[in-house]
Amino acid sequence: MAKKMREITISYILPILLLLLAVETHAHNVTRLLASHPSFSSFNHFLTQTHLAGEINRRTTITVLAVDNAAMSALTSKGYPISTIKNILSLHVLLDYFGAKKIHQIRDGSALAATLFQATGAAPGTTGFVNITDLRGGKVGLGPDGGDLSSFFVKSVEEVPYNISIIQISKVLPSETASAPTPAPAEMNLTGIMSAHGCKVFAETLLANPGASKTYQESVEGGMTVFCPGDDAMKGFLPKYKNLTAPKKEAFLDFLAVPTYYSMAMLKSNNGPMNTLATDGADKFELTVQNDGEKVTLRTRINTVQIVDTIIDEQPLAIYATDKVLLPKELFKASAVEAPAPAPAPEDGDVADSPKPAKGKGKGKKKKAAPSPDDSFGDSDSPAEGPDGDADDATADEASAVRIVGGATAGLVVSVFCLFASSSLL
Ligand SMILES: *[C@@H]1O[C@H](CO)[C@@H](O)[C@H](O)[C@H]1NC(C)=O
Ligand SMILES: *[C@@H]1O[C@H](CO)[C@@H](O)[C@H](O)[C@H]1NC(C)=O
Ligand SMILES: *[C@@H]1O[C@H](CO)[C@@H](O)[C@H](O)[C@H]1NC(C)=O
Ligand SMILES: *[C@@H]1O[C@H](CO)[C@@H](O)[C@H](O)[C@H]1NC(C)=O
Ligand SMILES: *[C@@H]1O[C@H](CO)[C@@H](O)[C@H](O)[C@H]1NC(C)=O
Repeated sequence: MAKKMREITISYILPILLLLLAVETHAHNVTRLLASHPSFSSFNHFLTQTHLAGEINRRTTITVLAVDNAAMSALTSKGYPISTIKNILSLHVLLDYFGAKKIHQIRDGSALAATLFQATGAAPGTTGFVNITDLRGGKVGLGPDGGDLSSFFVKSVEEVPYNISIIQISKVLPSETASAPTPAPAEMNLTGIMSAHGCKVFAETLLANPGASKTYQESVEGGMTVFCPGDDAMKGFLPKYKNLTAPKKEAFLDFLAVPTYYSMAMLKSNNGPMNTLATDGADKFELTVQNDGEKVTLRTRINTVQIVDTIIDEQPLAIYATDKVLLPKELFKASAVEAPAPAPAPEDGDVADSPKPAKGKGKGKKKKAAPSPDDSFGDSDSPAEGPDGDADDATADEASAVRIVGGATAGLVVSVFCLFASSSLL
């Protein structure tokens, strides 16, 4: 009987799921689109290298100005670091749709298009805009705003109206701003960047801690991602922070940064635990990245926070703002480990949140009437407990189709919801 049910599930649900997945994969993939054009292989390679491909795929109504391998080698022969190449190539991604037709029918013969370079905040003034002008004789010239229109439209390479258009231009757009040396990572003013974008309280807290400041500054060069709590969240947390001993304060600050550069697109495809700057031998100080549709959340056994803003994303540094303060279990687990507070403080409301990240795990949880939510979570994570095991697995994000079929309706509903959520948000 159960087997019959399963067969029915497979034969009816699976095609529906695959259909939904097919809809999902309709989102364009610039790497794949360019792969069938070998004369753009170098350009394509650098879109991947600079992680711009992920940013392009995340957006719709976009135009990529591609150059062929010969034009690309003129750029790569200059020995620019990858961060500069990223800036230059991001000037070649227009945040509007220009097919071959539209580019020849520009109103008043000239237009300015914003680019990904402008959007990253790295371009001063309007230097991140591209001027597209219909020149005499049907020629279309392109150049950075205020610069020479010395690159020309060659041909349309791929068009998926109105999601993505890839057009060939004759040479790399000459831009002094984009090719200016990017500030050496070691010289980036981390706290200045954070202060200017809603993480002032965290930046000040970091500045006041020489140990953590040094660790942050030394880590930028090799790639770093910071998850800074927004000002309101950090302000509310300060009394708790001030209660920590000096080594714990430092560990807490170090915990909010990861020694690897992750663009938003990379975070979205990197579910799982990550080491932090506070990770040191026995002190794990891990955090877990978990996607839910377009949302990226971070969790520990204590709480879950959501990324709400990108403050900077310039290889090798990314800084994201979070809606709440992510709490490491190493510092905020049991009240015994914390300060010898006899009565639970009102802030312990955070702790009560903890089972939330584990969607659909309620059943397994009830078995343990553990008083401390920290202990019942996480450790009960791995071993599947009885028949609920399958259902637990269904919440895994990737390749879930097969598992969903073997498991819970709840999982199916969640996944279907995610698919809808992500396609409607794209
Ligand atoms: C354009 O993108 C949207 C959102 O990703 C997608 O639903 C739609 O199918 C795409 N259109 C084409 C023609 O690929
Ligand atoms: C895009 O296509 C490339 C090449 O086919 C593939 O390696 C990559 O995983 C794809 N990316 C996404 C997000 O599907
Ligand atoms: C584009 O550049 C040309 C030549 O410098 C200039 O005449 C034109 O006004 C510019 N177009 C826009 C929209 O700024
Ligand atoms: C970094 O930025 C902060 C805040 O804007 C400023 O007070 C500080 O002087 C800057 N530090 C350096 C080394 O430029
Ligand atoms: C800080 O510690 C004191 C004494 O250990 C305790 O009474 C107080 O509740 C703690 N405050 C916070 C915000 O944890």
